[in-house]
Amino acid sequence: MNDFYLNKTFSDLSSDLLVNKVRANMDEARFRHCQGVSITARKLAKLNNYDEDKAALAGFIHDYAKQVANDEFIRVIKDPKNNFNQDLLNWNRAIWHGIVGTYFIKRDLSITDSEILTAIKRHTTGDVEMTTLDKIVFVADYIEPGRSFSGVDEAREVTFSNLDAGVGYELAHTLQFLANNRQKIYPKTLAAYNVWGIKKEK
Ligand SMILES: [Fe+2]
Ligand SMILES: [Fe+2]
Repeated sequence: MNDFYLNKTFSDLSSDLLVNKVRANMDEARFRHCQGVSITARKLAKLNNYDEDKAALAGFIHDYAKQVANDEFIRVIKDPKNNFNQDLLNWNRAIWHGIVGTYFIKRDLSITDSEILTAIKRHTTGDVEMTTLDKIVFVADYIEPGRSFSGVDEAREVTFSNLDAGVGYELAHTLQFLANNRQKIYPKTLAAYNVWGIKKEK
């Protein structure tokens, strides 16, 4: 038995089997992060009148493919059967593990719920359109209890008082971080910032 339990797996797998598969696909630190995101996603769902069990599951599996090898991602992107945009090959695993991660989640965990898969796809980049579940997973990833970057307390405060404001906070700070480190910015993240990150006119 696992000490971590999901009320619903949105798959034919039992909670125990699903938890074991997730644990087997990553190291211990990443697994603890996934548990933290799940617990945080459940709290945010309750606060925002969303399905708590669905949020807990999506949060738990969001990084399922985080430690998949580069060669494997590239093979899956290039396989025409999977219909992935070939521009993905110009990016890296930071982008792949969300967007392409859904391939492994469908294959290994038999989860096909489109809301869950979309939230996984969007969890690293954000998007112009984001559902409540997309937002919950996006910010839970950023503020789960294991996170300790400077500013995380403010991020938690903002997010727990207003989910949209939390999305905006995260996007603004992520763009700042990427620019400060002279890293490439995924166009969708910039587009998402222009929707969720800017201060609304009074
Ligand atoms: Fe991730
Ligand atoms: Fe994550």
